[in-house]
Amino acid sequence: MHTPKRNLQQIRSSSITSTTILAFRKKIFSFYKKNARDLPWRKTTNPYNILVSEVMLQQTQVDRVKEKYILWIKQFPDFETLAKAPLSHVLTVWSGLGYNSRAKRLQDLAKIVVTDLHGVLPDGPEELQKLPGIGPYTSKSILIFAKNRPLATVDTNIRRILMHEFSLPTTYSEKQIEELALLLLPRRRSRDWHNALMDYGSLVLTSKKTGIAPKTKQSTFQGSTRWYRGQILKLLTEKKNVTKKSIYTNYEKELIDPIIKNLISEGLICEKKDRISLPT
Ligand code: ADE
Repeated sequence: MHTPKRNLQQIRSSSITSTTILAFRKKIFSFYKKNARDLPWRKTTNPYNILVSEVMLQQTQVDRVKEKYILWIKQFPDFETLAKAPLSHVLTVWSGLGYNSRAKRLQDLAKIVVTDLHGVLPDGPEELQKLPGIGPYTSKSILIFAKNRPLATVDTNIRRILMHEFSLPTTYSEKQIEELALLLLPRRRSRDWHNALMDYGSLVLTSKKTGIAPKTKQSTFQGSTRWYRGQILKLLTEKKNVTKKSIYTNYEKELIDPIIKNLISEGLICEKKDRISLPT
């Protein structure tokens, strides 16, 4: 095992010299100057707005997030409004983005920020990661896009760019890629840099072009459970409450019962007698 310091030395002493770094930055920024995407969350540095966009973008494509983000900010413009809203309203506004537990976690986070943190998001990645729904990637993106912090974050787009541009071996670890990302970062332009890399990754170096697949793939099983969860929540936003029996007419009881049970234990739906509904 190499220590991080040795890794950095290895990178430096390999083909990645300061000339390569400057050339790479120039290439990415020149592309960005001409081709930057006009995305609604790029018009703000408000930490709440950035948080919302990053949570939506965790597992949903940019094109689908664009409209939802605007609608969400209209309905819930700040932590206070989101914290006070009925969960059923929160889930209804979220619907269509998938992975609905993200919406509940976002509201749980808003409640913590309002009641325990004087309405202000924490300022460091570790503190942010203590909040619901915030992992290492999102904690750093929030600080990069809201505050231009000199942190490096690696999503699937950025990973693909680095693998391709620096011909990295597939054995390269996540940690090594993160160290390389930090080496490449122009520290005073972190926000622009990450926006530029994301645009380059989705407009130029697509996974189709590079043949580099995302690191994680959803399994078919997970996909179908997710589909059933979505169907149940959609039904409840339309019908307020339904009997479990009526659900069994369309879906097998053995299959759907555990899914309903999980939704209840996550607080996304409630059960009263034989009827299920969205929580108020
Ligand atoms: N994916 C994750 N964060 C993003 C952002 N801020 N812009 C575009 N795509 C993203």
